[in-house]
Amino acid sequence: MTENIFGVVGLFEDPAALLKAVPLVQSKRLGKLEAYTPYPVHGLPGVLGLSRSPLGGMVLVMGALGTLTAFLFQWWMNSVDYPLVVGGKDPSSWQAFVPIMFEVTVLFAAFTAGLGMLLLLNRLPDLWHPFLLSKSCAEVTRDKFALSIEAESGSLDVAAAQAILRQAGALSVEVVAFPAPASKVSLNALLALSAAGALTCALAGAGMYGAVKLFPVLPPMSHMLVQPRLDAQQRGMRPPVAGTVARGRMPYLGALGNPLPRTKAVLELGRKVFSNNCLICHGPLANGTPILTAAYGAKPANLQAKKFLSYTDGEIYHAIMHGKNAMPALGLGFTEDERWAVVHYVRALQRAQHAQDTDLP
Ligand code: HEC
Repeated sequence: MTENIFGVVGLFEDPAALLKAVPLVQSKRLGKLEAYTPYPVHGLPGVLGLSRSPLGGMVLVMGALGTLTAFLFQWWMNSVDYPLVVGGKDPSSWQAFVPIMFEVTVLFAAFTAGLGMLLLLNRLPDLWHPFLLSKSCAEVTRDKFALSIEAESGSLDVAAAQAILRQAGALSVEVVAFPAPASKVSLNALLALSAAGALTCALAGAGMYGAVKLFPVLPPMSHMLVQPRLDAQQRGMRPPVAGTVARGRMPYLGALGNPLPRTKAVLELGRKVFSNNCLICHGPLANGTPILTAAYGAKPANLQAKKFLSYTDGEIYHAIMHGKNAMPALGLGFTEDERWAVVHYVRALQRAQHAQDTDLP
């Protein structure tokens, strides 16, 4: 009979009666003593011999662990894994780690305090306690004070416990049993629950699919997205100072023209470059009659065509720099002078094929 007994509970009128009863009941050593009161009673923990809550110690240890974790974390990332010198400072200087160390300390300490109190000390997943089901509990929630002798390792001398509580002046004494164990969840209920879950997911998925299919996708708040503004990497970037160019970016397509003079030396250089690099595709006269066999496939431009006669020097230069379709970009293989020289030479070839009377000396 005693296996199913949680304990024997005696009710007392006021805190003074309870405090007075404790030493007498304690002297019998029948079981674990516990008090249930409507509000905290001063002196009771001391009389019951309760030790201090371990929560403070837990928080201290975990807080220190947080500090250490944050320090090691940052030290490893900043000075071992990916050292990044910022403003010439030592990547492992601890002063920079302090804010994060402080915050991780607080984080660890706060979680330990909250979860430790609820889960470890208050045994949270257990939402019930045998005392809650007793008649005495209802009295305690009003104005009575309960002292209970609880079974230790499953055994309790119920008669002796009742006697000593009465002797200590209890108004009433109740034997509290463990409730019958709750029935296990049936397989059918589990299956029904799973089916309901699966159905809900399917419905939600189908609903989402339908919504996305049927309704146009609208950006939620477009008034920030659609506004007059200058975007990065676009024309909104700070323009260069008028009349200047960036380093290494001499504009050639504009009105600047060929910077080299049309001297004999330049034309000699141009012919050398053309013969070595362009002639094989464009032909000795630049008229698109290549030396290449038909296997080459592509048709090199006839630079004697009207279109190319009216090209600016810059446009020919651009073709050398960037190529076009089957024509490879050859520009970076030449010096800038070589590029402009070959442009002069192409011009000379064009003029030779389209000579005019005025060209005669
Ligand atoms: C590998 C063969 C090949 C070489 C080498 C070559 N070209 Fe071309 N070139 C082409 C072909 C093919 C086209 C026609 C591209 C098109 O319009 O599809 C072309 C087109 C051009 C054009 C006209 C581009 C335009 O805007 O339509 C110019 C100018 C030109 N080449 C100049 C040169 C010069 C100068 C050289 C030497 C530095 C040279 N090419 C070397 C194959 C070549």
